[in-house]
Amino acid sequence: MSTSRPARIPQHVAIIMDGNGRWAKQRGMPRLEGHRRGVETVRTVVDTARELGIRYLTLYAFSAENWKRPGEEVSGLMGLLDFFLKRELNNLIKEKVRLRTIGRIEALPENVRRELDRVKAATQHFTEWNLVLALNYGAQTEAVDAARAYAEAVRDGRENPAEASWEKFRRYLYTAEIPEPDLLIRTSGELRLSNFLMLQLAYAELVFTPTLWPDFGRADLVAACEEYARRERRYGATTEQIQTGRA
Ligand code: FPP
Repeated sequence: MSTSRPARIPQHVAIIMDGNGRWAKQRGMPRLEGHRRGVETVRTVVDTARELGIRYLTLYAFSAENWKRPGEEVSGLMGLLDFFLKRELNNLIKEKVRLRTIGRIEALPENVRRELDRVKAATQHFTEWNLVLALNYGAQTEAVDAARAYAEAVRDGRENPAEASWEKFRRYLYTAEIPEPDLLIRTSGELRLSNFLMLQLAYAELVFTPTLWPDFGRADLVAACEEYARRERRYGATTEQIQTGRA
């Protein structure tokens, strides 16, 4: 196993965990078995992220569109989430990892909401490491929810539209307390954002890997961070400005 660390570590890595179904199909197993193996990958990735010094890890665990899947798969995924939260409570406390969520959590089954509340409350005082689960999340819905909250703030005199800015508007997003991702990884070879963090990813580096999520391991996260470290982030400025520190 490589012990090397990439030169520049992203502060926030967001991951679209894709390919569980194909992984299972390739082995003649039910789709849920792929998701089950995917949960083990989540554990490995949380460990590796801490080891590398990645302070925020956001995982797309259930999209607002995933309700369209067969009922059996949806309830299987909810069951896995419940299992994961029960199993990880003590680990997250021991590792000082704060659990956060983004998305319309209120629509999740009651037992899952209860576990989420329990783990979030037990880890809310940790500041160094953050695991953010995107659950019943959709970027378009998030934009609508933020616009509504912003409009209410204008109506109540708490915001002045003439002074609107990204810095002010972002406070109404689900990610208000979370910095923008530096690196987005999508597994399984698909080249789409699938309604994930579309505003927050404005300047993120994108890394797509053909590896299916259940096969994604420590070396794959290190490789994605190495790729990130090789990229030049210009935020609209020129290479020369970046190199001379004048951007
Ligand atoms: C995409 O693979 C994956 C999902 C829709 C769910 C991801 C969920 C997990 C990894 C497990 C639960 C998560 C936690 C945090 C406990 P897919 O089913 O779309 O794969 P396919 O494209 O190959 O069919």
